[in-house]
Amino acid sequence: EKGGYEHFMLKEIYEQPRSILDSMRGRMIAESGHLMMGGVREYENKFVNADRIIIVACGTSWHAGLVAEYLIEDLARIPVEVEYASEFRYRNPIITEKDIVIAISQSGETADTLAAIELAKSKGATIFGICNVVGSSIARATDAGAYTHAGPEIGVASTKAFTAQVTVLTIIAMIIGSKRGTLETTRVRQLIAELESIPAKVEEALKLNDQIVEISKKFKDATNFLYLGRGYNFPVALEGALKLKEISYIHAEGYPAAEMKHGPIALIDEQMPVVVIATKDSSYEKIVSNVQEVKARKGKVIAIVTEGDTTIPSMADHVIEIPETSEHLMPLLSVIPLQLLSYHIAVMRGCNVDQPRNLAKSVTVE
Ligand code: M6R
Repeated sequence: EKGGYEHFMLKEIYEQPRSILDSMRGRMIAESGHLMMGGVREYENKFVNADRIIIVACGTSWHAGLVAEYLIEDLARIPVEVEYASEFRYRNPIITEKDIVIAISQSGETADTLAAIELAKSKGATIFGICNVVGSSIARATDAGAYTHAGPEIGVASTKAFTAQVTVLTIIAMIIGSKRGTLETTRVRQLIAELESIPAKVEEALKLNDQIVEISKKFKDATNFLYLGRGYNFPVALEGALKLKEISYIHAEGYPAAEMKHGPIALIDEQMPVVVIATKDSSYEKIVSNVQEVKARKGKVIAIVTEGDTTIPSMADHVIEIPETSEHLMPLLSVIPLQLLSYHIAVMRGCNVDQPRNLAKSVTVE
């Protein structure tokens, strides 16, 4: 059942080239720039004319929502708010009929997300669901939606569901952007071609496994970890920290790298491993200075960089090189080494990777 892997989590990490492909299959044609998604087509005018999009989710799905905020605002120029479902539902939020609420959930059974949907529905908003489990409660409660085709996810730590969600959300952002005219056809074509190359690049990133085992050995006894990223990699920093916390029980925090100087920098000393996602993108120069700040305080830097980079490697203690891609798609690649890092550290610490203490695969209670 685990397909020869020691744990479901590892199997699911390795399934990502396939699950990402399955989540994009039949939904785009690179040559023409054509994009198709049934659920979106049905509500196309709503999407095009929406005043704003509110994304509700929890945990890892919320992180996928944050990536979508960057994607939709940049490609489709619609304001996006990303909300923890648990806060949104009790806040007396302002919701109108012109709002579109996108609910993201792997299981489709998360109680808080379901309650947030019911609230938004009662105010007349259009509800769009992104679920992995067909026929789940959330899928049934929405007006329309798109499934992620990640296949069953058994490990409590979400991995392939996250990359499938980001894939589907990328396609949605492109559809809205092209319909609204904020995204030119040539760019759509380029992005589709780039997205099509992602499964092979994830395959490349998975080859980093042995190197990540070696790095994990060095840091398995750490008591704290910081994860830093900017732009599209900021949600990935949060996701990397969550993965480490939930399966290895090491305290970890994810931060937007520039926020470090507003507090967390006080934590940095020679004991503190800092995972910096520093791929070549529009924030690259800025993150170079963030790495310098960490090194000046003797923090141990584990850097995720774009293949061929020489600047960050000259400063970092450990370097993990991932393939190049458009910054819009980078989370699909930069999250892979972080999943592997948390997995190996957890295994080395003797933790129950697939069923961490105190956690359930779907959180059906508040
Ligand atoms: O099934 P959902 O996507 O609604 O679940 C949301 C969270 O409970 C879930 O992502 C949780 O944070 C995972 N254990 C993270 O790995």
